[in-house]
Amino acid sequence: MASGSHKLRSLASHHHQFVCSRTHQIGALFLVAATFFFTRLFDHSVVPCSSSVDQVQRSLNLVHGGPYSWPVRGYGSQLSLKIYVYNVEEIDGLNVLMYGREGKITENACLKGQWGTQVKIHKFFLQSRYRTEKKEEADLFFVPSYVKCVRMMGGLNDKEINQTYVKVLSQMPYFRLSGGRNHIFVFPSGAGAHLFKSWATYINRSIILTPEGDRTDKRDISAFNTWKDIIIPGNIDDGMTKTGAPAIPPLPLSKRKYLANYLGRAQGKVGRLQLIQLAKQFPDKLECPDLKFSGTAKLGRKEYFEHLRSAKFCLAPRGESSWTLRFYESYFVECVPVILSDQVELPFQNVIDYSQISIKWPSSRIGAELLQYLESIPDEDIEAIIARGRQVRCLWVYASDLAPCSAMRGIMWELQRKVRQFHQSAETFWLHNGSIVNRNLVEFSKWDLPVPLP
Ligand SMILES: *[C@@H]1O[C@H](CO)[C@@H](O)[C@H](O)[C@H]1NC(C)=O
Ligand SMILES: *[C@@H]1O[C@H](CO)[C@@H](O)[C@H](O)[C@H]1NC(C)=O
Ligand SMILES: *[C@@H]1O[C@H](CO)[C@@H](O)[C@H](O)[C@H]1NC(C)=O
Repeated sequence: MASGSHKLRSLASHHHQFVCSRTHQIGALFLVAATFFFTRLFDHSVVPCSSSVDQVQRSLNLVHGGPYSWPVRGYGSQLSLKIYVYNVEEIDGLNVLMYGREGKITENACLKGQWGTQVKIHKFFLQSRYRTEKKEEADLFFVPSYVKCVRMMGGLNDKEINQTYVKVLSQMPYFRLSGGRNHIFVFPSGAGAHLFKSWATYINRSIILTPEGDRTDKRDISAFNTWKDIIIPGNIDDGMTKTGAPAIPPLPLSKRKYLANYLGRAQGKVGRLQLIQLAKQFPDKLECPDLKFSGTAKLGRKEYFEHLRSAKFCLAPRGESSWTLRFYESYFVECVPVILSDQVELPFQNVIDYSQISIKWPSSRIGAELLQYLESIPDEDIEAIIARGRQVRCLWVYASDLAPCSAMRGIMWELQRKVRQFHQSAETFWLHNGSIVNRNLVEFSKWDLPVPLP
């Protein structure tokens, strides 16, 4: 952090104490003004100091906060970090992880669909104002790979993916220096880092960006670690996230035909099967159409969103894994998401209070009781949840970190908190004069490739 920012920070905390000690007397009105003032002045929000202030503050942030703000504590008062993005030409194997073994998979093909984040995030890092071309000054290192898409399109198999990752990492002395702790990887699907079979050996200390918190299906261990990894939003269809004129605009509540809907395949999952049964019992309340997600009668994106917007509540049950794209999509048709996935992890929990913008219902209680409960919620409460969601949804949009509010900006704030002054691995040593050496006392600048991996 630049030393100039120190002054700003102490100024902010001085005012912030003033705000807290007077809050009870002066009341919410002052807080509105103060929040407005400070968010604009410092590009972060005032850190609340008591829990009642906390609650007021939280709802104010949602309603009046405008561009979403990260708290000072633990993040710094401004974004100031340097990220090095590995070059395709510099590391043998990166091109394979990006375009497949024959180089035939295109970037454009990998940009679409729910896993497009692996490409989008790379592109935004390349354009980022926080990018550095100098490894020596980098706080963090980004390792590009479009491997989820490449694997889906037959460009690589699991064995090749694993071997290529290992080969790639062994060409990165900075990876070895930190034991991978300052290296960033994106794994955009439910499998998370499991896409790289030997992830636990090689990148279990690295920063992983993934929509998936828990991989309970098919695997016995989760690759997600709440302290070092970052949950990212799924990739919503670009046409829906455009400001101004989304492809399918939301309907007024009074125009919605159904109380709730669930759009998706059953995939043999208990929760989803229960919803399909429930829809047969209450066809006028719960829409659960038999939609075709593949083949010639495949549902178009337009029709999908037209269905999605026709209910007040969008049910989001777990599928193969706990995260679900439907949760994020529902904010763009202004349908209240009801999470039916107990293990779900949600992005940016340090700044978003999800109880204000969604409902989470136990997946073990899917049944008529759920519909009765949803029916009991007055329209004005639904409108309030939707209004708060409208303030926050910019954080699900993959746009540049220059935008006042975007998924990339959120990711940058979360990455900033991961920056360390010093890194070590079990195979890193240092001498009295600051020289970093390996076990053979060879200085860092002279380490030979391939470096043995930690
Ligand atoms: C992944 O590749 C490394 C290096 O080739 C190898 O040692 C390891 O056994 C592989 N892991 C799996 C699960 O095949
Ligand atoms: C990470 O991998 C190392 C090397 O295989 C292992 O010793 C360690 O237990 C792993 N840590 C975690 C958190 O899985
Ligand atoms: C630090 O000390 C070691 C051992 O004396 C020496 O080999 C190395 O060149 C020194 N490094 C610097 C940067 O002076």
